[in-house]
Amino acid sequence: MTDQANRPYPAIEGKLTSASRTTLSHIMTGNDTNLLGTVHGGVIMKLVDDAAGAVAGRHSGGPAVTASMDEMVFLEPVRVGDLVHVKAQVNWTGRSSMEVGVRVLAERWNESTPAQQVGSAYLVFAAVDGDGKPRPVPPVIPETERDRRRNQEAQIRRTHRLARRRAIRELREQRAAEGIED
Ligand SMILES: CC(C)(COP(=O)(O)OP(=O)(O)OC[C@H]1O[C@@H](n2cnc3c(N)ncnc32)[C@H](O)[C@@H]1OP(=O)(O)O)[C@@H](O)C(=O)NCCC(=O)NCCS
Repeated sequence: MTDQANRPYPAIEGKLTSASRTTLSHIMTGNDTNLLGTVHGGVIMKLVDDAAGAVAGRHSGGPAVTASMDEMVFLEPVRVGDLVHVKAQVNWTGRSSMEVGVRVLAERWNESTPAQQVGSAYLVFAAVDGDGKPRPVPPVIPETERDRRRNQEAQIRRTHRLARRRAIRELREQRAAEGIED
């Protein structure tokens, strides 16, 4: 089911999911608000990218760049005074890319109520060398049933991303061949 099997690079020893799993926590202040007075979605997206980038760097053992961010979902508004926790882990690895899954939780900074999930996202990072070229990553080793489910779901998203890119490229090539200009 995985296309890791087709990796052209020499085999690299795998790394456990827990080895790079990371939580980034931040209290939201008045500087983070939008015109409605709640926290700006872009502030949350920056935290998501930061946490996922740390995970990708830890897993791959070096620099990694954001290739794509998809399915960023905001479930509830985040408010000033919320303590936001951004939890990220590697769900899947290819040859040089990694899918990082992120969950965003929020709780009042000064109350002992349980944290509530307010968002989630999936990002693809590519590990790069000093010239910015893709470099191989260690295969991720899922440890729990939840990790295995996330790995299987990530493979479904990977298949859909590739199919969507291919279909759009083919459509553009077809329109160009027919001499259609946008
Ligand atoms: C991401 C990047 C390194 C890919 O380089 P490339 O020359 O296109 O290399 P490849 O086509 O071999 O892609 C490398 C891997 O990334 C994956 N990838 C590339 N673009 C992708 C995208 N848009 N979505 C998902 N995966 C992507 C490929 O599938 C491949 O995965 P694999 O090696 O596991 O099979 C390059 O496009 C880049 O540097 N982009 C800018 C990244 C950046 O600066 N991010 C911060 C934005 S400010």
